[in-house]
Amino acid sequence: MNDFPSFPPRFVFGAATAAFQIEGATGEDGRGLSIWDTFARRPGAVLGGDTGDVACDHYHRYRDDIALLKELGVRSYRFSVSWPRVQPTGAGPANTAGLDFYERVVDGLLEAGIEPAVTLYHWDLPQALEEQGGWRHRDTAYRFADYARLVADRLADRVPRWITLNEPWCSAFLGYGNGLHAPGAREGTPALAAAHHLLVAHGLSVPVLREAGAREVGITLNLDHVVPATGAPDDVAAALRAETQRNLLWTEPLFKGRYPDSEDDTWEELIRRQLFRRSGDLDIISAPLDFLGINYYTPSVVRNAPHREPDPLARTADDNRFEGVGMPEARHTAVGWPVAPHTLHELLVSLGRRYGDALPPVYLTENGSAEDDVPASDGAVHDAERIAYLDGHLRAVAAAIADGVDVRGYYVWSLLDNFEWAYGYSKRFGLVYVDYATQRRVPKDSFHWYRALISART
Ligand code: FCB
Repeated sequence: MNDFPSFPPRFVFGAATAAFQIEGATGEDGRGLSIWDTFARRPGAVLGGDTGDVACDHYHRYRDDIALLKELGVRSYRFSVSWPRVQPTGAGPANTAGLDFYERVVDGLLEAGIEPAVTLYHWDLPQALEEQGGWRHRDTAYRFADYARLVADRLADRVPRWITLNEPWCSAFLGYGNGLHAPGAREGTPALAAAHHLLVAHGLSVPVLREAGAREVGITLNLDHVVPATGAPDDVAAALRAETQRNLLWTEPLFKGRYPDSEDDTWEELIRRQLFRRSGDLDIISAPLDFLGINYYTPSVVRNAPHREPDPLARTADDNRFEGVGMPEARHTAVGWPVAPHTLHELLVSLGRRYGDALPPVYLTENGSAEDDVPASDGAVHDAERIAYLDGHLRAVAAAIADGVDVRGYYVWSLLDNFEWAYGYSKRFGLVYVDYATQRRVPKDSFHWYRALISART
């Protein structure tokens, strides 16, 4: 008899994916190029030179994948729409074939009794927009609102839950700060402009989604639980700089309509050079939301460090005087992330404390672990460590609910093994193993465990 953590009756169990990571078919039915198509072709950018050209071939196999979701028993499935499939150059009328694909997915889910949850932007910016400046450029925010309208006009009558952006921190600071993600730029002020324009894009699209009939509108942030390495004042200040960049830069404008007080200390010179924030923007950004999506994987332990680049004019926006020290005592997943589920409980409780009534209901929109999965001689994938990871984090969510945080649901990352960005196909996060040579799907032990957890409640 399994001893599962317990949740309120209406709690939503789900699973998540993202377009570029699973769809493949990058050249089909009029899809335009995305920044990830371009970035993946840059030598050395993605491990093994992997691309999204085929991925999990979900574009052709979505019916099988919906059948897997049905077998899993999830109430909701979070997936993303590829902007360049819908608007190949990021502007102008919709590519009907692109919208048709997502309509087939939505209708397939509804037929299977699964609620669709759509993310509009999970990092695949149309390449044509990047060539005009990408997120450094304010116009991209207006383009995003137009794109949101095209998708919502087609699907909002059937999709109850909408997520504007996935993890804008990654788009701004991995995309334009340290260059580890597409478009691979290493910049200072432009990365901060990207952060701001992403927030404006989000804010502009909220009323658009509501007008089209979306019932629940939110944004997904990758909030961090930042722990100072020691109690020394320098380390505590470094932790605040990390928290400013990772969390407060996003949550303060969204929930308080202001930029964080600690910003000057975080960016010093960079902040003085910014010209991109306009009056009225914070009102746009702080449009009330129905929920906050949080993606959580691992905590950060940080200590004080000097700037890596002494010249303030040459400094990138991620260079703000802290460095990670790791958690040697914890187990580490296959991507090297320490496993510390109690930190998810702490994050949720501290958010609740900081924002009180200004914090909307929360969904964990991603949580999961990469493990070195290998099919065993019996053909199954015995991923006991993933089960322990999921169990620990679900218990942390249950504890936060017991402590009064309004968490409404939890989506496992991910349904399938998939293209893990700069790691290519080398890291497996799925509940379902994908044999990329044959595209055969093998539900792992964690799939059966999650299924049992869900069905034990119904
Ligand atoms: C998150 C991303 C998701 C996936 C997981 C492991 O940052 O949103 O696409 O790559 O990490």
